[in-house]
Amino acid sequence: MATMTSLIGLINKIQRACTVLGDYGGEGLSLWEALPSVAVVGGQSSGKSSVLESVVGRDFLPRGSGDSYSLSYHLLLSFATLRDLSSNVVHEAVLLIYIYIYYKKWRLAEYWLLTVKSKTIKQKWSLFFSIVTRRPLVLQLHKTDNGTQEYAEFLHLPRKRFTDFAAVRKEIADETDRITGKTKQISNIPIHLSIYSPNVVNLTLIDLPGLTKVAVEGQQESIVQDIENMVRSYVEKPNCIILAISPANQDIATSDAIKIAREVDPSGERTFGVVTKLDLMDKGTNAVDVLEGRQYRLQHPWVGIVNRSQADINRNVDMIAARRKEREYFETSPEYGHLAHKMGSEYLAKLLSQHLEQVIRQKIPSIIALINKTIDELNAELDRIGRPIAVDSGAQLYTILEMCRAFDKVFKEHLE
Ligand code: GDP
Ligand code: MG
Ligand code: NA
Repeated sequence: MATMTSLIGLINKIQRACTVLGDYGGEGLSLWEALPSVAVVGGQSSGKSSVLESVVGRDFLPRGSGDSYSLSYHLLLSFATLRDLSSNVVHEAVLLIYIYIYYKKWRLAEYWLLTVKSKTIKQKWSLFFSIVTRRPLVLQLHKTDNGTQEYAEFLHLPRKRFTDFAAVRKEIADETDRITGKTKQISNIPIHLSIYSPNVVNLTLIDLPGLTKVAVEGQQESIVQDIENMVRSYVEKPNCIILAISPANQDIATSDAIKIAREVDPSGERTFGVVTKLDLMDKGTNAVDVLEGRQYRLQHPWVGIVNRSQADINRNVDMIAARRKEREYFETSPEYGHLAHKMGSEYLAKLLSQHLEQVIRQKIPSIIALINKTIDELNAELDRIGRPIAVDSGAQLYTILEMCRAFDKVFKEHLE
């Protein structure tokens, strides 16, 4: 029997195949829904992107702080209200500044944009800056052999290998804009990204837009509800493992992530509670009660995390140094020392991978059933439209059918 690692690799392939299948109607989607994935849920700036990057072990997601530049935000606000931005010359000048800031500090540029009074500028450029989590990001991690080069690939750009992760970040931004267009601020259509690396565990992760409590100026009122609905549409699926991110410097009882997780997974069997920003708690307080499961009970253990701070990011502290720092933090902590072996990003990645394997093992029979159903339907469809003679939709259906058969065979081998 092949290893579970290869089985997860197979699942990743199937998810890609199902995305193709999805183009032909509902059946592909139901196959997709049969497979487990991990969704990252939390309030804005709770540390979702940081946790994701830690699990992946690479910097590639646009990240920003809602805290550390709030001063600049207020400065920009007052600046924008002082300026008359009605003249076209000013518009264009402002656009240039946007572009400049965008490459330096995208979140700052985003906030700047929100303060602009002109509708034209907003419509023309708002989506240029809204580069993060306006679309779900489905991230598949594939572990490759040691020593092989790390690269990333988008489903919408097949055969283009990205080795520069800054370019990955830019492509996420561009692809977000491509779909959200000029009118919509968020979209349910996911971006599919695969990372091939010797330094990851096999996992499928979904980054979702941050839950928010109020619409910011320039956003429609409905955005709060829109984001919540989008997040719910992912996490309510019984196959979705929820990574509920709560920052330690806020009350866990009022955590957006826990609120939505409790709603869709009341028994807590598919929710992993993650507490970030342990290093930012007020002196004299700690999260031991939460981490030991006394404050809010989940079936899985809570995991505490110390991500890079904004200052670390500004100083370009790399992933390896960040992990070392995190390990040291737990090992030397008077409060969390006794929990050190069950804390941190690496432990979280391991825990998730183990859980995913278990879930996949339980799912194999129902996945086989779904694949067979799809094969039958594809056969019926091919009988109806005739077997393919050229590269048309029939030929594509036929390819998918072949793919399903191959998957079916491998799955059955795994069951033996
Ligand atoms: P997201 O909006 O939920 O994706 O959150 P980000 O990952 O972008 O993080 C928001 C800000 O919080 C960034 O400036 C991070 O550097 C900072 N941050 C996240 N986690 C931690 C943490 O554990 N400790 C500290 N000190 N800062 C953190
Ligand atoms: Mg983020
Ligand atoms: Na952020």
